[in-house]
Formats: sequence, structure tokens, C-alpha cells
Amino acid sequence: MADKRRIGILTSGGDCAGLNAVIRAVVHHAIGNYGWEVIGIQEATNGLMSDPPQGINFNIEDIDPLLLMGGTMLGTTNKGNPFAFPMPDGSFRDRTQDIINGYHRLGLEALIGIGGDGSLAILRKIAQQGGINLVGIPKTIDNDVGATETSIGFDTATNIATEALDRLHFTAASHNRVMVLEVMGRDAGHIALAAGIAGGADIILIPEIPYHLDNIYKKIRQRQALGKNFCLVIVSEAVRTELGDQVKEIKQMGEDRYGGIGKYIAEKIAQQTGAETRVTVLGHIQRGGIPSPSDRLLGAAFGVAAVDLIAEGQYDRMVAWRNRQVISVPIAEAIETYWSVQLDGTLIKTAKGLGICLGDE
Ligand code: F6P
Repeated sequence: MADKRRIGILTSGGDCAGLNAVIRAVVHHAIGNYGWEVIGIQEATNGLMSDPPQGINFNIEDIDPLLLMGGTMLGTTNKGNPFAFPMPDGSFRDRTQDIINGYHRLGLEALIGIGGDGSLAILRKIAQQGGINLVGIPKTIDNDVGATETSIGFDTATNIATEALDRLHFTAASHNRVMVLEVMGRDAGHIALAAGIAGGADIILIPEIPYHLDNIYKKIRQRQALGKNFCLVIVSEAVRTELGDQVKEIKQMGEDRYGGIGKYIAEKIAQQTGAETRVTVLGHIQRGGIPSPSDRLLGAAFGVAAVDLIAEGQYDRMVAWRNRQVISVPIAEAIETYWSVQLDGTLIKTAKGLGICLGDE
């Protein structure tokens, strides 16, 4: 028992669909095929900094229902930077050493960290400081982690946003309305672009492409001239006003949150074109629910590959999806090459080819 290899796994940053599929695959492969122990760390690095560290010892028999479950059964957090961690007395403390101690107290030989670019950067810094053997798995509905073509959660979020457009289509047509759908994506427009094309949007606005409101009005008037008195607009939450201001919700727990650009665009359209507009903000619906088959597949493939990297002693690496297969890359490469929408990429060409207005012309 004592010489059994023991690895940890944690989920960090915002949740998304498919995280549990990764956990399930890691447990199956590590326990079932390698005969290791797998400890699930609760609430990201918070679980490691707790005294005693919070972890659950996985059993292979317990994990099958995980495939269908949204969220993360380990819990997560996207707050509380461990280098300046908010303490109950209002002060901030560097908790890095507590996290490193937690890893060693649990007797872990390696740690699988499932996170977006921010979480992976934090985990890597701690790993380097504390001799933690880290393997990363990319997840984020925003799909902006570098060095991988896709990340866990993006496909499900895109499916949900596409379905929202599908549903808005018919009510828009019935009432001759301009429907504006605001979707997530923090600083990258991947969800808006992909769902916009798949869901037949007439106008797609993403943060990577500055727009002029006049181009949007022109597109709506062109449709009106063709006798199509409804219009579907999808806008990414990080799109700014025409003057370049960010639209944010009220500060919560010291952080600004994006939100409100859909309302801004809808009001401008109503004022200038006379069209009746309505706004839908999709919000966290994009993060929840049953993972799509693609996210389950990706989760399974990433989980298995991450365990194999540990078996080969290849650390400080992240599994990635490229050219129809799983490869691994240095975590540093993934962090350094932030992946925003490529303006010369296929999807931009496709959108333009379909006559979709991207606001720039
Ligand atoms: O990064 C994932 C994401 O869902 C972004 O698309 C969004 O801006 C943000 O997280 C929302 O964060 P929270 O769950 O803290 O509201």
C-alpha cells in the first residue's frame, strides 16, 4: 500500500461542462490500468492550503455517473489568487507554501491541474517553487488557451449558444424583431463567432473586430429592404461600445464582471432603425448542464493522455488537441500564446462568405 504511486487532481477557475468526464477518465486509467491511487483535491488550491488538506480518495466503482454530470464534482474557485490570498481579517497573504505543504502532506507524486490560462499560470508558478510534478489539462468555455485547438467546455457552450439562436429565430420572425443575444467569452469571441455562424446570425460582434454602428444599421436596413423584418445579432460580452468603453456590471466581491453590451447594441439599433429589439443574456447557462459528446470525448482523451504523461515522467506539460489527436506541449507555451479569434482564420472567412456582418464593413 505504502509504495503505491499516488497522484492528485484538481479543477481550477470557472467550471464548465466536461470536467467530470476528465476526472472519470483519469481515475479509470490511473487506478484501473496503472494501479495507482487518485486523490481528488477539493476546491482547487484551496483544498491543498487547508489544514489538513482536503482530498477524496477515488474508487473506480464510484465514478461512472460522472460522465453525464455538469460542473465539477471536486468544486472549484476563480477567486483568491494564492500569491495574495484574502484573509478573514481583510489582509492578503502569500499562501504558496501552504499549498506546497498540502501536496507533500497528501503524499502526492504528481498533480493534474485542469484549468484555463490564468489557473495554469498560477499552478505552474507554484509547481516550480515547490517541486510539484504538474501536468495541465486545458478547459474553458472561452477557448482561449494557447497551443491547443480546443479546450474542455467550449463545444458544449457553443452548442447552447447555437440552440439559443435557433430558438430566438422563430420568435424573432413571428414578431418582426431584432433579437440580440449576449454570450460569454471574456476577452475572446470564439463562442459568438462559432455559434453565430452555426445558428444563422445576421450580425456577429466579437472583441477582436472593432465595429461601427452604422454598419450594423446598414445590415438591418438591407434585410428590411428584402422584406425580412427580423434579424439575429450575437454579441460577445467583451465587445466595447463604439467609443471603446467596456460595459461592465456592478462590482461584486471586488471584481468587475462583463455584462450589458447586448442592451447597449439593442438600444442603439432601436433608436436608429426603428426596429423593435429584445435582448437575451445567456450567462452561466453556457457553463452548466450535460456535456456534449465532443466534450466527453475530449475529456476522456485528455484524462487518459495526462495519466500517461505522468507514467512517462513528463512534467510541466499540458495535453493539447492538434490535428485530430492529443499531443503534449510545455505549459509555458500554452500560457504565452493566448488564443484569440484569428482575423485571417477560416471562421472569419466563412462568416464573410455567408454575408454575415461583423460590424467592420
Ligand atoms: O472564463 C469563463 C467565464 O465563463 C467567462 O466567459 C466569463 O466572463 C466569466 O467566466 C464569468 O465568471 P463568473 O463565473 O465569475 O461570473
